[in-house]
Amino acid sequence: MSNHKITVQSPANIAFIKYWGRYDHQLFLPRNNSISMTMSGCMTTTTAELDSKLTEDLIEVKFFDQPYQKLIRRTEEIKQENIFAQIDRIRKIAGSNVKVHIKSENNFPADAGIASSASSFSALTAALLLVFGLHDKFEDKIEFSKQVRMCGSGSAIRSVMGGFVEMLSGKTHDDSYAVQIADQNHWQLTDIVAIVNPEKKKISSSQGHLAAQTSPYLETRIQEMQPRIKQCREAILQKDFSKLGQCIEQDSISMHIVMMTQNPPAFYWGPGSISIIKEVMRWREEDGLEAYCTLDAGPNVHVICQSQDTTEVKKRLEASPFVKWTIVNQPCAGTTIIDQHLF
Ligand code: PMV
Repeated sequence: MSNHKITVQSPANIAFIKYWGRYDHQLFLPRNNSISMTMSGCMTTTTAELDSKLTEDLIEVKFFDQPYQKLIRRTEEIKQENIFAQIDRIRKIAGSNVKVHIKSENNFPADAGIASSASSFSALTAALLLVFGLHDKFEDKIEFSKQVRMCGSGSAIRSVMGGFVEMLSGKTHDDSYAVQIADQNHWQLTDIVAIVNPEKKKISSSQGHLAAQTSPYLETRIQEMQPRIKQCREAILQKDFSKLGQCIEQDSISMHIVMMTQNPPAFYWGPGSISIIKEVMRWREEDGLEAYCTLDAGPNVHVICQSQDTTEVKKRLEASPFVKWTIVNQPCAGTTIIDQHLF
């Protein structure tokens, strides 16, 4: 078994078609297919090394501008539990009992609707598979995406490949995985994240997924989104920005209706988010500046535009009193092995 140090880098991704709710909470099977673009400006870097001298796994994480913190195994936080469960699961597949040292850092705020779990969990899973010598499961991207799903973050599945990726919901472990629609060089779209509030959200997406089925609108959403999934796929392949933009905005609003009508209700957007959504709609109608908004489980607004409009859209977003700063992203590669180790 390989015990050298391994480092990977993995991007966040922005969902054009969102997943919300699950079929199965043990296998983390998403309730619907989703489609996303990888984000070049929002990365997690993770280094892992097996260490036979350790009596416990040592996990150190650094979120954006905060100091490194050690994760504790018994904790109430679902995501931290999922991290340890993923370590134990992959170690068992590898037939090992050696402890692992992991160091991981994000270059963007976590838990604020910028898909930090997507980049962190895909990076964690890649680092674990590689350090435990399961290279085949990393190289086969379908298998890798299934392994990522088992850590509990559905969006993370879409970070394993570059560019534009669809996550197939599936009904069993074997038919729920990611497929690439087009790679990162296909279409230079921009996602400008307007940060209105970088703080951690109150209702985690894990808690949110559990309550999704209490919304009377979940099944309506699943029905009405089916043609949109097909249109979104087509719009990406045809590079039809107006068609894509309509899919993006409609799907975000549709998901937030489910979120707001579930029990307990999850209102992820705030006054700043609404102000930006209205502004972006006004730019389209009055100035012919084509940009579209989408929000995940947080108040920060992802504004999608074509590359020639990036400077203008960024300038306008930064002029809003609600916007603290912006992060500009283009499609990029999925999870990649790199040489620069964190320890
Ligand atoms: O990746 P999760 O399981 O934490 O869920 C995130 C879901 C959304 O970001 C709200 C939508 C999506 O498809 O990314």
